[in-house]
Parts: sequence; C-alpha cells; structure tokens
Amino acid sequence: MKNTLKTKATILTASLFVLVACGQKNGKKGTTSQNTVLSEEALYRPYFHFTPEEKWMNDPNGMFYYNGYYHLFFQHYPDSTVWGPMHWGHAVSTDLLNWKELPIALYPDESGYIFSGSAVVDHENTSGFGENGAPPVIAMYTIHNPEKRDNDQVDVETQGIAYSTDEGMTWTKYQGNPVIENPGIRDFRDPKIVRDTTRNQWVMVLAAQDRAKFYRSDNLKDWEFLSDFGVETGAHGGVWECPDFFPMTVEDTGETKWVLIQSVNPGGPNGGSATQYFIGDFDGTTFILDPGFEAELNKRKAFWIDYGKDNYAGVTWSGIPDSDGRKLFIGWMSNWEYAQQVPTTAWRSAMTLPRELRLVKTGNTYQLASQPVRELKDFRARASKKHDIALNTPFVYHTESNAALNSTEISLTLEGIGNGTSVIQLYNKEGDSLTFGLNSQKKEFFIDRTKTGKTGFSEKFAEKKSVAPRFSSSATLDIHIVLDKTSIEIFYDNGSVVMTEIFFPEAPFDTFRLTATDSEAVIKEIAIHQLKFD
Ligand code: FRU
Repeated sequence: MKNTLKTKATILTASLFVLVACGQKNGKKGTTSQNTVLSEEALYRPYFHFTPEEKWMNDPNGMFYYNGYYHLFFQHYPDSTVWGPMHWGHAVSTDLLNWKELPIALYPDESGYIFSGSAVVDHENTSGFGENGAPPVIAMYTIHNPEKRDNDQVDVETQGIAYSTDEGMTWTKYQGNPVIENPGIRDFRDPKIVRDTTRNQWVMVLAAQDRAKFYRSDNLKDWEFLSDFGVETGAHGGVWECPDFFPMTVEDTGETKWVLIQSVNPGGPNGGSATQYFIGDFDGTTFILDPGFEAELNKRKAFWIDYGKDNYAGVTWSGIPDSDGRKLFIGWMSNWEYAQQVPTTAWRSAMTLPRELRLVKTGNTYQLASQPVRELKDFRARASKKHDIALNTPFVYHTESNAALNSTEISLTLEGIGNGTSVIQLYNKEGDSLTFGLNSQKKEFFIDRTKTGKTGFSEKFAEKKSVAPRFSSSATLDIHIVLDKTSIEIFYDNGSVVMTEIFFPEAPFDTFRLTATDSEAVIKEIAIHQLKFD
C-alpha cells in the first residue's frame, strides 16, 4: 500500500500536484477518507524564503543595499531546473523577507557564463562610471568559459565587472573585461569586494582552489595581487569557493577584527557543501589569524557558520548604512550533494533566512553568532506563550486551529539540563517526522530528517542524521527555531551553533513535541509565533 501511494504521489508531483493526505499510507494510524490534493506551490513553495519564480537557482550574488532596497542577485539558469549556463537573476526587497523578482540582470555571452560575485555602491565614483552625480553600482563576477573547460584548459575562469547607473536595475558589462586574467589556476572565482576605509582602498578576495587570494584597487578596474591565505589552514575537504571578507566590531570589547568567510565543497561537517570562517587582523595587505582563534582552530579543525547540510555559498550585503550597522548574511539553502534532485518541478532551491552576524569574544577566542534578522518579528501574528513547564511528561503543542507549523517561529529556554537528551519532534498525521535536539552526554546537537517524507530522490539526502558540537556547558539552553514549509533553521545557545536543513513532507507538520530525560528539566519559557505573510 505504502509503495503504491508513494508512486502515485511521485506521479502527481511530476504534474505539479502531490497527494498530501492519504490516511492509510503509514498503515498504522487507521484511515481517513481525506484525499486532499495540494499543489506543489501550496505544499513546497516557501512563505518567506526567497525562491526564483521558475527554474534553477544556486548561490546568492552581488547583494547590496541602496536607497531603501536590499538587492539580491543569484546564480540562475532560466531554462531548466538543473544547473546550466549561469545568469544573474535579480530580486529586491524593502524588508528582507518579501522579495520581488525582477528581470535577469546579467546574461552569459561569448566570453562565458556569469559565475558568482559581488556588488558595491561606488559612492565616490572611483570607477568613473557614475553619471550626473549619482553613484554607480559595480558588480564583479567570474567569467567561466565553457569551451575552455571542455577542452581541459586551465585558464577557464577570469574576473569581469559590470556597472549600473540606475541603482542596479540595468547593467553594462565593462569593455575592458577581463579585469583579472587567469594566473594558471583552474578554480579561480567568486570575487567579493569590500571598501577598506582605513586605507582608502578597495579590497577583493577570491577563491583559488585551496586558498583565498587578496587583491587591491583604487578604481575597481585595475587590480593588484596582495597575498594568499589558507593553504594549510581550516577545512580542505574540497574546493574553496565564495569567500567574503570584512571588518567587524567585537561585541562588548569594541575591537575591530576581520572575518574571512570561506565556503568549501565537499568537506562540510556533515558531508557535502558548507561554509567555514576565520577571524584575524588585516594590515591592508595580509590577513593573519588572531592567535586565540588560531589556538582554538587547531583544536576544532574548522569553525562552521552553520552545521546543517543546507547553508552554502553565503555572503554578506554591502552598503548597509552605518546608522544600521548590521552585518547581514544570506546563504543558498541547499547542498551540491542533492540540490539538482530535490523534489520540486517548477523551481529548484531557496535561500536561507537573511541573518544578522555578530562577532563575540568567548574566552580567548572570537566566534560568529547568527540570528534571524529582526524584521522577522514584524510578521508575527498569533502567539502562544507558556512558562515553567516541568518535562516529566512530554510537552505537546498543536496550533489552536490545527494550522500547520510551517510559517512559525519558536523560542524556548530549557533549564535543568543534565547529562540526558532533550528531543523535539515535529510531525504530521501522515507519519512524517523531523527530530532534533541535544544529546548532553555527547555534548552534541543533532537533526534527523530521515523520516521527513520524500527523501529517496538522492541517497545522500537522508543518509544519516547531522550533528554539531555543543560548546557551552550551561544547564540552560536557548533554542530559536524558524520553520517554513520546507526548511528548519535552528539557532542554539544565542546563535553560536546553527543548523539549517530542508525537507519535503507529504503534508505540513502540525504537532510539536518536546521530551527530556533529565528529571530536573523544565521549559522556563516558550513562545510560539505563527508568522503571517501576504
Ligand atoms: C558555488 C559555485 C561557485 C560558482 C557557482 C557557479 O556553489 O560553484 O564557486 O561561481 O557556484 O554556479
């Protein structure tokens, strides 16, 4: 029975419809006569995570803020739901959560595909592309030549720029491209530009196979190589891609440190694609690890921005005004292990929630913490708040109207954690469940999506549960969870450990259950917010 229904569901999916409620499916819970059919849009299109209207998307690119708009560009192939000749798609938002997709910004041409890169507002018109006193926006990206790739040439990737004189709406490729030739390195890509205000220069970092390379420029057109970083540092399970580099103020101490974000694929902590980071100092030429960070890195081997399987190629927005001062990050919420097989047919992939990064000092080291952007709070509709709940019996919650837990933010604080486990399960009447939590004995967080519904499209997708270390030894644990239709983002211990994963249930999850084995464990407080988007 199960197989027959699964097959039926697959066929329906292919025609944009999926069978979501079929009572006999798991054979355990008796029958219901419901045969509700939800469209793929209704079941899987996220409420508040960006997805392209149609077809393939991977990395976020060229994010900048200007004049009230957050711009988000993205690796896009508008002709298929699998990767192909890369364009830059484009979307804008005024609140980081409601996105409007705009016409494609950059098309591939005879020089090659438009791979990942960045964009900056050139306020002082250092590039000279500005017109009528308005600052131009400069995008820098990798030109990837497919013919050279197919001929096994080394110089496949060079860097180019494009400029916009209408605040990012339309773009002109620079006649003098490429602005950086290939130095004889096959993987040489993903330029990210930052303004180094201390030295009044533009600094750019790009990924070159097993290292990051730093360059400088005065005008965004002429680039000079500065230095290399990382060949023997951090995680090297695969190719380094999509770096980001910027100064940040350390919370509480007020010092300035430089952060290098560096994606690697494969070689993530739970397999496949993931993003690590490094913290240190930059003298305008060279990036040197902070000694305390380096000592901790030697123990941990890598610092990961997210331990879940679905946060890759993430970088930060440029141009956030000083009056705001946040470092805003977004990642691609998928993994190259299975991104091209996930079970959606109209579009493929979503971005993570935009997040605010914070730089905190813990003991002798520095680390990044992430939290959902505060704008998410503006979408809270109904709330259910409770406190001081003993966990000698499980805590079970369903929404009052049995609404789905798929546009939901849950914040809770557990106290009295000993050596046991604290386990949260989300489930539906179809028998699908997502399980996550903490195993204190192992000092390990985990997330298990092996029973979340459609998992068989790739053997890598639900091969095993994902785990993350818990660094804190506190008996108090705060957990902040953001749920959309096909994703969970979990921020533990004030965002110092993050796990993001996607899933494809046959019907929305509607019940939340928390069990703890420690006899003293209590929910100090819990707030469950249903989020509302138009
Ligand atoms: C990362 C990446 C980048 C590259 C782009 C191509 O996911 O491989 O290194 O620029 O995707 O689409």
